[in-house]
Amino acid sequence: AHQWRGVIREYADRLPSLEGAPVVTLHEGGTPLIPCENLSATTGANVLVKYEGLNPTASFKDRGMTAAISAAKLAGARAVICASTGNTSASAAAYAVKAGMTCAVLVPDGKIAMGKLSQAIAHGATLIQVEGNFDDCLTVARKLAESYPVELVNSVNPARIEGQKTAAFEVVDALGDAPDIHVLPVGNAGNITAYWKGYTEYASATTGLGGGLLEPVATRRPQMWGFQAAGAAPIVLGHPVDHPETVATAIRIGNPASWKQAEAARDESGGLIDSVTDDEILEAHRLLSSTEGVFVEPGSAASIAGLLKMHRAGRVPADATIVCTVTGHGLKDPQWALRTAHGSDVEPVRVPVDAYSVAAALGLEG
Ligand code: F0G
Repeated sequence: AHQWRGVIREYADRLPSLEGAPVVTLHEGGTPLIPCENLSATTGANVLVKYEGLNPTASFKDRGMTAAISAAKLAGARAVICASTGNTSASAAAYAVKAGMTCAVLVPDGKIAMGKLSQAIAHGATLIQVEGNFDDCLTVARKLAESYPVELVNSVNPARIEGQKTAAFEVVDALGDAPDIHVLPVGNAGNITAYWKGYTEYASATTGLGGGLLEPVATRRPQMWGFQAAGAAPIVLGHPVDHPETVATAIRIGNPASWKQAEAARDESGGLIDSVTDDEILEAHRLLSSTEGVFVEPGSAASIAGLLKMHRAGRVPADATIVCTVTGHGLKDPQWALRTAHGSDVEPVRVPVDAYSVAAALGLEG
């Protein structure tokens, strides 16, 4: 028995562009696909979540970062840079440490969840707060990478997409085929691009069984359903959003770099890209933690909010197998759990030190 070796080693045969690269890994990937009984009962479908918050830095970015940093190492890079709404910076900082590189991160003014900021700082990244939004940060990061000897590790780096496509492989490996529908939050649109690439490659790939018999890895591809936050929904609106706003700071993006690829994934799969409001996101966030035991950050809950919105619209096929990626851990941005559904703060019940008072507070007495 051995432990999961990280996505590059586990899927080496499907990552030809990384052949020969030194593998920089924190053993990312291998995340659980968790059946959701309550969401299934609600929607009439077979709903599972791919819990990407269980990656080493607690988001799906680690799949792409092991690939991007390994490729950068092969190219002799000593420094990396990224723009980020938080998770990319946490991941880049950690993998840069592992590779012995320095890391600079450009983050938008405010609006970065505390957990993510703490990670980037803990891992020694140089943090620059840019007086602008994520899209401005990415523009500046791209310019810097063109003019200085630093490698850009945002999802416009093809290695990022290569690494992240392994999540689709894992879903197929776990289910035995692709699901009917795959649901994702959409921000800069790298992840929906990566999943579609992964599903597409697995649908045309074969695996040699026993005596060399070739079996298809997957026989089909899912519909891709992407959801943006209503205040940051450029793909849905059909034009960039100058001042994106949402409680889901991870996906507070007005001009996604992989816009065209996301539309291609939508159209080639017969899927959809729609938006969900902040209220819908927070409700899905609450539902997932309180009925399924899965704690995610608000941006991740956009996939669940989208599924529920489509269910209300009568667009979820009965008995369909539906995988929702929940992209980041709830501890990244825990403040939202401390608010009630009505927006007031949750207050702990205070009691003196005695069992009777506690029993009374628990409703066990009287
Ligand atoms: N969910 C979370 C938790 C994210 O951090 C992101 C993106 C997304 C979803 C959207 O993924 O950009 O591939 O469409 N976060 C980036 C960052 C932008 O800087 O951490 P996408």
